[in-house]
Amino acid sequence: MSKSPDITLQESSPLLQEGGGPGHVAIIMDGNGRWAQARGRPRLFGHHAGAKRVREVVEACPGLGVKYLTMFAFSTENWKRTQTEVAGLMSLFRRYISKEMKALATRNVRVRFIGDRMRLDAKLVKLMDKLEVSTECNDGTHLTIALNYGGRDEVARATKRLACDVAEGRLNPEDVDEETLPRYLDTHVLPDPDLVIRTSGEARISNFLLWQSAYAEYEFIETLWPDFTAKELGSLCDRYARRDRRFGAVKT
Ligand code: IPE
Ligand code: IPE
Ligand code: MG
Repeated sequence: MSKSPDITLQESSPLLQEGGGPGHVAIIMDGNGRWAQARGRPRLFGHHAGAKRVREVVEACPGLGVKYLTMFAFSTENWKRTQTEVAGLMSLFRRYISKEMKALATRNVRVRFIGDRMRLDAKLVKLMDKLEVSTECNDGTHLTIALNYGGRDEVARATKRLACDVAEGRLNPEDVDEETLPRYLDTHVLPDPDLVIRTSGEARISNFLLWQSAYAEYEFIETLWPDFTAKELGSLCDRYARRDRRFGAVKT
């Protein structure tokens, strides 16, 4: 990784105040296919361009006070795409992990993956494990990559594990509450996202972090993911810092 990206914040930005910005930003990286189509290129060309944007965004986080960054890379529904696109994406993920492993490890980024690994090929899972292990002592930006992730699938898997604990006497059904269930989710070590960004103009969440985003702030922006920059992330964090989050309460 290279120098810090160029983000110029206004002096008045509330982001410059301690705790003013989003501590956890989650991004639905959408629009790679349209970006490629607009250039008369195959969809995979867009995915490669999209993967290249991740580094700059990760590097921007410390300067913006973003401690946790979660990126949606492949959903449980994306298997419905053509075999060529899916295979190309899987190969891209393998290549991305191998290529970025060293840089992420030495730049104090801690990487985690969420999603169901059962359907992913063994070679990819091995690389994911290796990246997690090689960065587990890092305490800089916590980068979580959602790969074969679906919010409903995650809740179903969590419920299955919770039910096993009840059946085997480790958990009393009376004790199941809003604090218990998230301990079974893939994200159990992460705070809830403060800000969820979706690129490409679609105003939907497509099964991303359903439980965790109950009180997130949302930004649906027109930019296609391969055009997204650290500067735009800075503007969105700044806008977030000016919002009033009430969590159902009324300010007195
Ligand atoms: C997001 O870009 C990447 C993945 C879902 C893997 P898309 O591939 O969905 O791009 P569009 O939405 O078709 O433009
Ligand atoms: C959501 O994008 C998944 C990722 C960005 C990885 P999609 O392009 O798959 O979502 P839909 O199909 O437009 O809802
Ligand atoms: Mg899409």
